[in-house]
Amino acid sequence: MSSTSSSVTTSSDIHPDIAEVIITEKEIRAKVTELAAQVRADYADTEQPVLLVAILKGAVMFMADFARELGRPLELEFMAISSYGASTSSSGVVRILKDLDREIEGKRVILVEDIIDSGLTLSWLLRNLASRNPASLDVVALFRKPEAVRVPVEVKYVGFDIPNSYVVGYGLDYAERYRELPYLGALKPEVYSD
Ligand code: PRP
Repeated sequence: MSSTSSSVTTSSDIHPDIAEVIITEKEIRAKVTELAAQVRADYADTEQPVLLVAILKGAVMFMADFARELGRPLELEFMAISSYGASTSSSGVVRILKDLDREIEGKRVILVEDIIDSGLTLSWLLRNLASRNPASLDVVALFRKPEAVRVPVEVKYVGFDIPNSYVVGYGLDYAERYRELPYLGALKPEVYSD
């Protein structure tokens, strides 16, 4: 049986816990390509590999797709931090669970984030990474919740401004679930209010 829409999310693909698809898989793919093109153009002046730093775990999907779209020499690094605990709202208390594997001094660093919610995590990360003296430090964030930003943080590359609802998918979780969904969806309230 042939399919003309195998790569497109259709209503029949929607997970039963999802109330509404906020950003489709196709829209995400197009935006990742667009962001990668912007970054590629802005970094065209250097042959030096850029160092992409992603924060586990939410940014893994975006990192994988963005890195493959970038089309230029790069290196990958990962950090794991703890900022939320069991709570669904950001506390601003950040602890490093896994640090970078190497020094970033003198490197062109791009921090790859899935979502900026309150901005507290990013604000802390930027201070932390800047203190390690990279040659440059930019941020690319796929999603941003403008209504929830409590700390103004300068972000050069932003994919989508999204509503202030409970969203999951494309790396974002609720209680470690739904990260694998290829789209960004709003979770049904009964799923997280149980
Ligand atoms: C999410 C996301 C950002 C942070 C944004 O990570 O990946 O790092 O929250 O929130 P903020 O702007 O309010 O600080 P989370 O702590 O949920 O961990 P995860 O990526 O492992 O799901």
